[in-house]
Amino acid sequence: MITWSTGDTGVFDTAAIMDGHLYELDQHLDRIIKSASMAKIKLPYDRQSLRRILVQTVSASKCRKGSLRYWLSAGVGDFLLSPSGCHQSAFYAIVIQDESPFVSKGVKSVTSSIPIKPPQFAAVKSVNYLPNVLAKMEAEENDAYVGIWLDGDGFIAEGPNMNVAFVTKEKELLMPQFDKILSGCTAKRVLTLAEALVGDGKLLRAIRQGNVTVEEGKKAEEMMLIGSGVLVRSVVQWDEQVFGNGNEGPVTQALLDLILEDMKSGPPTVRIPVPY
Ligand SMILES: Cc1ncc(COP(=O)(O)O)c(C=O)c1O
Repeated sequence: MITWSTGDTGVFDTAAIMDGHLYELDQHLDRIIKSASMAKIKLPYDRQSLRRILVQTVSASKCRKGSLRYWLSAGVGDFLLSPSGCHQSAFYAIVIQDESPFVSKGVKSVTSSIPIKPPQFAAVKSVNYLPNVLAKMEAEENDAYVGIWLDGDGFIAEGPNMNVAFVTKEKELLMPQFDKILSGCTAKRVLTLAEALVGDGKLLRAIRQGNVTVEEGKKAEEMMLIGSGVLVRSVVQWDEQVFGNGNEGPVTQALLDLILEDMKSGPPTVRIPVPY
């Protein structure tokens, strides 16, 4: 990464680029600034300048569909543990073009045997993603797409780069609360958009965030992954448990449609036009 202290003091974030707009840029920017503060990284520029640099970077790239990924680090230093030898924090951004069609096919998940980071570190999007990488690799070794972490008290936590949610038999959208995991920008947006599905005769009866036990999760009608990379994706199997009839669930599909619609024509608070 772009820090030259052994401790690799850095934080990062990502925002999707869709139809020449940045999706949820301000929400992701707020999160990287919070992550930087938790990692004690001084901002090299103020928020407005960071935002301007990011929009200009996408503009210069001419990319209209893909993702913008950016890092804040302690900066160039002396390869020692402490970043005190890094005198100027650094900001680094790249644009990744991605024209591949969006895949919504349901996936398999397994409970991760790699320990989850303790809450203080899980809540920061730092460059320490070794546990996340190992959890993903372990899933792939078991023919699964993703590993699911449980928290220190045994409640369902999150995946290595996404949040999780369930639809119970009582038609409740149930999501682990964000106190011990990363507060997902997409998950928060899904919680808001899901309100359109709540009501008599509609797909959902209620929306709730709280502690979710493995038993509750496994007897749910639907399980889904939520994040800026996967958007909303059905989990059709978790360990030995198959959800519903093994196909993508209707609520998951409806939430995916809502988020795709939001990316294409949502309000200016979530869609920032890139001046190419
Ligand atoms: C550990 C972790 N949890 C959840 C998420 C989902 O967050 P978002 O929806 O903001 O991409 C991510 C992705 O950034 C992540 O790395």
